[in-house]
Amino acid sequence: MEVIIRSTYEEMSKVGAQIVADVLNTKPNSVIGMATGSTPLGVYAELVRMHREEGLDFSQVTTFNLDEYVGLPTDHPQSYHSFMHEHFFQHVNIPPQNIYIPSGTTSNYNAFCEWYEQRILDAGGIDIQILGIGSDGHIAFNEPMSSLASRTRLKTLARSTIEDNARFFDKIEDVPIYAITMGVGTILEARELLILANGKNKAAAIAGAIEGPVTSMITASALQLHPSVKCCLDADAASELTMIDYYDWVQEKKPGAPRL
Ligand code: PGA
Repeated sequence: MEVIIRSTYEEMSKVGAQIVADVLNTKPNSVIGMATGSTPLGVYAELVRMHREEGLDFSQVTTFNLDEYVGLPTDHPQSYHSFMHEHFFQHVNIPPQNIYIPSGTTSNYNAFCEWYEQRILDAGGIDIQILGIGSDGHIAFNEPMSSLASRTRLKTLARSTIEDNARFFDKIEDVPIYAITMGVGTILEARELLILANGKNKAAAIAGAIEGPVTSMITASALQLHPSVKCCLDADAASELTMIDYYDWVQEKKPGAPRL
């Protein structure tokens, strides 16, 4: 895992966006896994800026979102369909037919989840998956004790996740209790993973995910099993890591490393 620490959220977001842009510049028809939540907003804003000002082209891109709340219609302001449209899709040139977001309103969740997994395979797999992390260490909505081999499925959200996300709703009772989420196993099949975290309330989860044992109690720790992970943090999210000097040393020495 490559751990990249920047002092501010803005700097961290710029690094994250550049990592995505590098994938896209190498492979214009990349398949990008998208995440919602406050964390990736800075990355999306920077990618939109690159699209507008530098011509970063999304015309051949396909996207798959990690998750969606169950029960919210797609046009509900807090649905992840609305979120993605508002913060990213309406600002770039991804063909609408190439955008996949799990359905929170299907009548057959099992069939939908199987179809979603198949669509990812048909698209050739995900080239880079963007991830946030929950304060309970979840990736997507894979709450503690989710199988590290799990696939896309219906999940019951943890109380802590409902409390964390209540800030987006009028009252906590309005937060959905269930979600459709890609599984940890689904996420680990992406060729490259980019996990982002900022703020003190993520510091413990990040320390557990990066330096703790691999455990389904912190599903983000499964990323230790993946061969190509970049972890972009601000200083607050990195504050409980014990090996910061080493991570910074590796970054500092990178330009001099032998070319692969
Ligand atoms: P956040 O959510 O970016 O809004 O903090 C992250 C997550 O729950 O995965």
